[in-house]
Amino acid sequence: MNIAEYLEQQRLDVDQFLDLIAPTAVTPPTTLHESLRYSLLAGGKRIRPILAIAAAEAIGAAAPGLMPVACSLEFIHTYSLIHDDLPSMDNDDFRRGKPTNHKVYGEAMAILAGDALLTMAFDIISRPDLMKGCDPVRQVRLVQELAYGSGNRGMVGGQVFDIQAENKNIDLDTLQTIHKHKTGMLIRAAVRMGAVAAGATERQLDDLTGYAEDIGLAFQIADDVLNVTGTREELGKNPNTDAERGKKTYPTFHGVEGAKKLADDCVSRAINRLSSFGPSADPLREIARYITARKN
Ligand code: IPE
Ligand code: IPE
Ligand code: MG
Ligand code: MG
Repeated sequence: MNIAEYLEQQRLDVDQFLDLIAPTAVTPPTTLHESLRYSLLAGGKRIRPILAIAAAEAIGAAAPGLMPVACSLEFIHTYSLIHDDLPSMDNDDFRRGKPTNHKVYGEAMAILAGDALLTMAFDIISRPDLMKGCDPVRQVRLVQELAYGSGNRGMVGGQVFDIQAENKNIDLDTLQTIHKHKTGMLIRAAVRMGAVAAGATERQLDDLTGYAEDIGLAFQIADDVLNVTGTREELGKNPNTDAERGKKTYPTFHGVEGAKKLADDCVSRAINRLSSFGPSADPLREIARYITARKN
């Protein structure tokens, strides 16, 4: 399979669905909808929805409601980026190739756009029209997976660890905990939700969870590396912001080459976790490789 083509095709499908389910910019309150569409449709890589779709593909059974399930993750992720960029958090000016949400719409609207995206994610996966054919027990489980991955024990918890570590002399274990939560837990939820939607067995879910945890860490190590090595044009966001903000990252501890090697090790481990799956898991294997090879 050609991973670039696969990612591109999935991304187009995801973008189309996101555009369809996000209220139009003329829906009241118009500024809110304009603001959330500004960030949501700004052209992210859509890696979390694609992971959910690829995980369902690995299981190989019908997964009713898979596209709303996948897109709910992108609503949460976009909310997390809008809030992550706020002056009281990372104070960033540039995201997805455009000025950050608060730079355009102001802080109050950026906070509210994030709040709305978070809430809408749960609306999307609860709606009978979108989730037609999904077994109700499975659906409740999907809601729980999304809540767990996003919340106090997941992404939000990780963001707390992250801001509390600024300008502190943290050790590598603490850094790993930050990364596993702020980035890893939503990626874990993405893979698990795709698998649950397709009716994975507990054994399959365990293997896929191990895969997701390994690529989740690799993804954030790669983000740390790109923060040092990337350009604003490549990244669509400003580089070198971690050092400016007093954040210790994998390159701080291991250097750029050492950090890249650790990310590659995580990717190899992730791929090994898929040994019980056949070719249906090839997209997951290729996505793992793409995570450390990417330029943005
Ligand atoms: C950036 O996520 C923030 C992290 C959690 C590392 P992505 O690299 O997936 O950003 P987009 O969605 O493509 O903009
Ligand atoms: C982002 O982490 C994590 C979340 C948004 C949950 P970073 O702050 O390291 O990511 P970038 O570099 O701003 O995208
Ligand atoms: Mg941050
Ligand atoms: Mg940030």
